[in-house]
Amino acid sequence: MQVKDRILRDGSNLSDEELAVRSWQELHERGYFQRHRLHRDWRVYNAMPQWFMDLAKPTPEDDALEIGCGYGQWMIPLAPLVDSVTGIDIHEAPLAKARELFRARRLSTAKVFLCDGLSTGFSPRTFSLVYSISVMQHIPREIVRRYISEAAHLLIPGGRGLFHFRLADGRPGYVHDIDVSLIKEQSVGWTKEEIVKLAERAGIPSTVTKIDPQSAILVLKAPIDAPTAPCDAFDRRAKDGQGNGTGSQGDQSGDGAHR
Ligand SMILES: C[S@@+](CC[C@H](N)C(=O)[O-])C[C@H]1O[C@@H](n2cnc3c(N)ncnc32)[C@H](O)[C@@H]1O
Repeated sequence: MQVKDRILRDGSNLSDEELAVRSWQELHERGYFQRHRLHRDWRVYNAMPQWFMDLAKPTPEDDALEIGCGYGQWMIPLAPLVDSVTGIDIHEAPLAKARELFRARRLSTAKVFLCDGLSTGFSPRTFSLVYSISVMQHIPREIVRRYISEAAHLLIPGGRGLFHFRLADGRPGYVHDIDVSLIKEQSVGWTKEEIVKLAERAGIPSTVTKIDPQSAILVLKAPIDAPTAPCDAFDRRAKDGQGNGTGSQGDQSGDGAHR
């Protein structure tokens, strides 16, 4: 039985965002990556894309965070270029595979953690580089807003955020938000104006660069010296009694959740 049917039967009061996370968890339970034509046999990328190198300019001093890291397929080529790379995702299956791949390659600076799919769980000013590839198009707009807003705070002064978006421009199929009644890999597109607004709302300088006819990258640029605006994710955590995200990296082994 699919997530939506179970939810309707059990009368759950999960929000649309929580439902979307549950749907993705269900995709992993059915072997999402193993069955995917691009990821079959846990294929790993050989190198970071040129747009990433040009826009992020990774350095050996960088501490990077990938949101929606899957089994670490981008973390593996990035790890040798930076000081550390941390990945988060919403299901243990891809994360367990990531740990296995890191071990096989002796990548001790790459770690993965389980997240709740609504926020990263890390403290402000933890990373110099936050990025996400092929994820923003698969999650509801409200979760995207939360991640961008949180990323603005996760970055240290001078840090960069890179978020890969699917462009909606002129494509009728991509204008709708994720509809949880369809339990499959869905795509939601954004217009350039909508992407720009995300960064404005997060109060951080940004640029949007079109990298191909279907995709654009939102680059966040944390000022060297500027106060950070209020952020829903940290406010929520403080209210829940979890403090301001301090100690969020408690499990240094990278096994299990990081909070
Ligand atoms: C299409 S895959 C992309 C994986 C990888 N970034 C890549 O480019 O190959 C989308 C990934 O986003 C993750 N994901 C889905 N919803 C998420 C959420 N709310 N927060 C974080 N990751 C999420 C999925 O579990 C999956 O690993």
